[in-house]
Order: sequence, then C-alpha cells, then structure tokens
Amino acid sequence: MIDQIQQHKQDFESRIGQVSTPEHLKQLRTDFLGKKGCVTETLKAMRGLPPEEKRAVGKHVNQLKAHVESRIKEKTAELAGQSQGQGAGAFDATLPGRQGPPGTLHPITQVMDEIIAVFSSLGFEVAEGPEIESDYYNFEALNMPKDHPARDMQDTFYIEGETVLRTHTSPVQIHVMEKRQPPLRIIAPGKVYRCDSDITHTPMFHQIEGLMIDRHISFSDLKGVMNIFVQQVFGENTPVRFRPSFFPFTCPSAEVDIQCVMCTGKGCRVCSQTGWLEILGAGMVDPAVFAGVNYDPEKWTGFAFGMGIERIAMLKYGIHDIRLFFENDLRFLQQF
Ligand code: FA5
Repeated sequence: MIDQIQQHKQDFESRIGQVSTPEHLKQLRTDFLGKKGCVTETLKAMRGLPPEEKRAVGKHVNQLKAHVESRIKEKTAELAGQSQGQGAGAFDATLPGRQGPPGTLHPITQVMDEIIAVFSSLGFEVAEGPEIESDYYNFEALNMPKDHPARDMQDTFYIEGETVLRTHTSPVQIHVMEKRQPPLRIIAPGKVYRCDSDITHTPMFHQIEGLMIDRHISFSDLKGVMNIFVQQVFGENTPVRFRPSFFPFTCPSAEVDIQCVMCTGKGCRVCSQTGWLEILGAGMVDPAVFAGVNYDPEKWTGFAFGMGIERIAMLKYGIHDIRLFFENDLRFLQQF
C-alpha cells in the first residue's frame, strides 16, 4: 500500500503540473480528496489492516493528504494571480492615463498677459527687476530723497537698514536706464509690497510699469499709448480722461481714469458717484531722474506709467473685493 501511496503522489505531481484553469484544479481535488478520491479510498482500505501496518500506512496517507492540500492551495493562489493579470481588473500599460480636471491660468496672470500683449504689439520689451530693493532705487533715484513727504504715499515694508520690499515697479526704470541708452521702450510687470490691507488693497499686489524714452516724446505720445491700451483692454468706446496729479519722478504727472464700467458714467457706489474710475498713474519723466542716470534732458524726453493689475482685473470683471484673488477658492477661480 505504501508503494501505491507513493504512486498516487507521483500521479498527483504530474497532473498538478499540467493544471492551467480553476476547473482543472477542482477536478484534481475531487480525484484525490473527494468522497471517491484516491486518498479517501486509501484511508477506507486501511480499515482492514493489522494495527502495526495501519499505523505505518496511516502516516504515509496523512502525509499525502497534507501534501495534496498544500499544493492545491498554492496552485489556487497562482491561478488567482494570473487571472488578475489578464481579467477585468488587469493593468494595461497601453491605456491612456486618467484625466484630471483641466486647470486655468489665475485671473491676475491672464490680465497681466493680456496687458503685456497690448504693449508688446506697440514695440515695448519686457524688463525685470528685484523685489528686494535698496532705498536708493525705490526712492532716492526716483527723486524722493530721505524725509521727502512723498515717501509717505506708500507704506513701506523695511527689511533692514536701507533694504526694502519694493513698493512699486518704478525702480525697474532706473535699473534699465543705468544699463542702456535711449531710445527705450520697456514694460516691467511684477509683484510689489505695501503695508496696506482692505477690500481694495492687499500687502502684495502686481503692477506693470511702462517707460518710453526717445527724441521729441511728448505728453501727446503718452495720451495716444494710454488710449490704445484702454480701448484694447476695456473696449473701443471706453471714454478716458487725464487728471492732473503728482508723482516726484514725473512732471507733469497725471492720473488716468476710465468711465465707470459699472454705471457707464451715471454715478454709483463703485465710482463714488463721480462716473470715473482711476486706473493708473503716469507722466513725463522728471529731468531730475534723467540727471541721476546721466541722460541728457536736452536730448531725450520720455513718459512713464504704472498701473495696479488687481485694480484693472477688478474693473474688467466687476469684482468688488480684491482679497478674492488670493483666497484660491475654486468656485471663484473656475469662472475665468
Ligand atoms: C505708483 O505706484 C507709481 N509708481 C505709478 C507711476 C509710475 C506713476 C510711473 C507715474 C509714472 P500708486 O501708488 O498710485 O502709483 O500705485 C499705482 C496703482 O497701484 C494704483 O492705481 C492702484 O491701482 C495700485 N495699488 C496701490 N496700492 C495698492 C494695494 N495695496 N493693493 C492693490 N493695488 C494697489
């Protein structure tokens, strides 16, 4: 009987090696462990054996049974693993990846890009400058010596000593003029910082500076360029007006207003009943600024302007609270 048990084991090994489906495996299990399977039959046949022989044969049958059970368990796991690799849940490296929802550019970036495109089409190049500035570039070179009252127009973040976070993009004018000779036509977009916070002011915001220097540049050129900018960004028929103002680095200086986009000039809460909204500061470059960068004011004239991007975006899209731009609420951002 022991030889017969050894034979069963060899048969089992040869058959399990050929099993390739769960159905085949099921059949093999029935053939060995089922009610009429060979292991069960051997156990039954042992009944008539004398006790000594029964013990020896029983040991071999139990070993065979344990072996068959463990090999069937292994094979079941192997077949399950194969079916995961081929069946419904299989990984297919050729399938396209899952699509995330498409993102969009932040509305401030969109407005900034739009404004840059307008000025690029007029021949302005993009220039950059540092956000951490010296007192000299942020103030002195722009005709604001120490203790000049105009420094109070902008609440400055001082880092240490003479180092500040730039309060406007106007210092880029000086960096460019120090490095290059006229004629010049640049715009300088970037972040600026002021200790200021309410529904129309944030401590960090964006400006675009513009500077054009050439022979015989006059205030009419400034007006022409500003008119084109307003028409392209706010629409062809948007009325523009120039209001006298003061900046230490331009003379004469003006603030540029557009007709209120909310009430079309009738007067409302947004325009404080004036019918007009201020969009930027501008003017002819002050000869004192030219002197600081060794430009001859008899030979060269130019204009400069500076605008707040958040303000332009608020007017363009009818947004009342500037803080919405910085809260990153998807319900707000998805509208752009
Ligand atoms: C200036 O910063 C001048 N450098 C502009 C300039 C450049 C004038 C060149 C002449 C020639 P002003 O401080 O007014 O100007 O700021 C310009 C614009 O920045 C404002 O019209 C406003 O739209 C925006 N702005 C100012 N402070 C804040 C703030 N805290 N948050 C958001 N926008 C602001």
